[in-house]
Amino acid sequence: MFHITSPGRINLIGEHTDYTNGYVMPMAINLHTTLEAKPADVVEVYSEAFDEVKQFKLTDLSRENSWIDYVKGIYAVLFEEGYLPGGMKAQAGGDLPLNAGLSSSASFELAIIAFLNTAYDLDLSREGMALLSQKAENEFVDVPCGIMDQFTIGLSQAHHALFLDTETLEYEYVPFPEILQIIVFHTGVERRLKDSAYAQRRKTAKKALQTLGTLSSKRISKEALKELPPLQRKRCGYILRENQRVCEAKDSLRSQNIEKFGQILVEAHRDVSKNYEVSCQELDFLVDRFLEMGAYGARLTGAGFGGVAIAIAEKHQAQEIAKNVFSSYTTEFPEKDPYYALVKPAQGVQVSLNSNL
Ligand code: GLA
Repeated sequence: MFHITSPGRINLIGEHTDYTNGYVMPMAINLHTTLEAKPADVVEVYSEAFDEVKQFKLTDLSRENSWIDYVKGIYAVLFEEGYLPGGMKAQAGGDLPLNAGLSSSASFELAIIAFLNTAYDLDLSREGMALLSQKAENEFVDVPCGIMDQFTIGLSQAHHALFLDTETLEYEYVPFPEILQIIVFHTGVERRLKDSAYAQRRKTAKKALQTLGTLSSKRISKEALKELPPLQRKRCGYILRENQRVCEAKDSLRSQNIEKFGQILVEAHRDVSKNYEVSCQELDFLVDRFLEMGAYGARLTGAGFGGVAIAIAEKHQAQEIAKNVFSSYTTEFPEKDPYYALVKPAQGVQVSLNSNL
């Protein structure tokens, strides 16, 4: 029996930049999908979250529009690339909340592919597993995500953020200051409009890159923005500034300039809210409250439209700050069911052989 732990992720900064081949700086966090799995002839997976067993034969990879499509999608891309893994019997669980904006789907995909890679000696690199998982999500599950989530879950290291150039896939591990605590706060707002609005943002950004004749937002100049129609200019202006902020945020983390780092996160939130229009009143409220209560910085994380905000605070103050924000949030939005967690940077997906089972 193999035991797989696959983390969730937060994005510190670099939002909606990955599908324009820009910069991102996310990290894996210590909330995980777990998988107990062994090789078998067919595929049979039990999901604790859905309390449901799903089975399929390797010859039947038809879409079901359910959580099992992530597993089918991984098999589909592996077969397409010429890999021939066998089946599996598995149980999926863990403490990573689903549909919260912490990348539970990418985490599940990586858990499955990492198991198959080890159990069937596929010899895939971590980059390879991340790219194939993204392909499964894009082409099989039909969600047009960028590479950030899968890459982070595949390659992160404990105690570090991951600075990634999503065009070249070159990356650096940036030590995350030990005195800092990350607070993840879920608004209790289902990520409204998430899929359609995400696809729309992606389309607008793609059109702008086409007009400017470049494949990467890293190569857009402020001057060139003037050539774009108003909406594309607004969206691209944000992306251009966000790319710069990711680089500045990396430098301030490296030099342990925490106040500056916090300020950059806040600027990023204000900009994504105003000019990329993917925030909501609950997320904006959270950012303001976190700053009032003493956090260094706060912002939405992931696609936006609800889901989670993150805040960065001194370790010894974090619990108190989170409690105060929680109480203020539930007073302001009594009908919501929010929750929070204190998290830290974690290792990417891990597979171990569990000889006791
Ligand atoms: C989602 C996608 C990522 C990225 C973010 C926004 O999490 O899966 O690829 O585009 O949104 O930064």
